[in-house]
Amino acid sequence: MPPSILGWVPSGHMTRALAPSFIGSSTRRSAGSALHAVTRALGRLRLAVPRRPRWMRGPRLEAPIVAPTLRTDRLLLRPHRMTDAAAWYALQCEPSVLEYLPWPERTRRQSARHLAHRTRHTQLVQRDDFLALGVERDGILIGDVSLHLRDVGADERSAEIGWIVAPGWEGHGYATEASTAVLGLAFGQLDAKWVTAVVDAGNTRSLALAERLGFLPVDQHGADRVLRLSAERFAPTTR
Ligand SMILES: CC(C)(COP(=O)(O)OP(=O)(O)OC[C@H]1O[C@@H](n2cnc3c(N)ncnc32)[C@H](O)[C@@H]1OP(=O)(O)O)[C@@H](O)C(=O)NCCC(=O)NCCS
Repeated sequence: MPPSILGWVPSGHMTRALAPSFIGSSTRRSAGSALHAVTRALGRLRLAVPRRPRWMRGPRLEAPIVAPTLRTDRLLLRPHRMTDAAAWYALQCEPSVLEYLPWPERTRRQSARHLAHRTRHTQLVQRDDFLALGVERDGILIGDVSLHLRDVGADERSAEIGWIVAPGWEGHGYATEASTAVLGLAFGQLDAKWVTAVVDAGNTRSLALAERLGFLPVDQHGADRVLRLSAERFAPTTR
């Protein structure tokens, strides 16, 4: 999902799986928030892990997937650029955006650095490569959809998707539309056999989005649900 900016990171659910899952039902509510806190802390730790060198990252795709520009009925998806810095910072300041992402609160300067990383993550070649696209509506940056390449081998090729829409733009189907376009890339040019989404069980909007897109739950790791969409099941869902 999700947005891991420093290059190599283990898959989201693998890291989050370290969160304890054995807490009893009488303390479920506080256990839920404790799990969530642990998940966030681990996520931040994950962002601090140094990039794993390419020679350790196994096979490469036959041809790299370079961040494209995608047009949908209402949206433009394109690589991030530094002229988005103000909009990107505003997005990162939204508590509802940070609530379920392993992102720290960033200053304007840190946010610009974060965006600069994103402008460079524009190619999928090897495991754990990351590609992020800014989502524009009428020239305004309203969100981000990303793909992490998780497995490269042709028979088990897979990616993990992440999605964000700024709160003021929720409820219009923009995340559905943008994610459908990125899934088209994953199942088309990348030829993924499936795409996963790792979603906190409390993130109802994200779970609803995954369901709308046809994802099915396959696993649970601590507070996280792992959902999967197969190539066979994928069909454009934009209304
Ligand atoms: C997760 C997130 C992207 C979902 O955004 P969203 O706005 O709920 O999703 P969509 O843009 O697809 O909009 C769906 C809503 O628009 C409505 N809608 C209107 N037109 C629509 C259309 N053409 N297609 C689909 N839905 C449409 C749907 O009925 C739904 O309404 P509801 O919210 O009343 O159920 C957003 O909440 C978010 O960015 N959260 C913070 C970051 C985050 O947690 N990311 C995920 C980490 S795993």
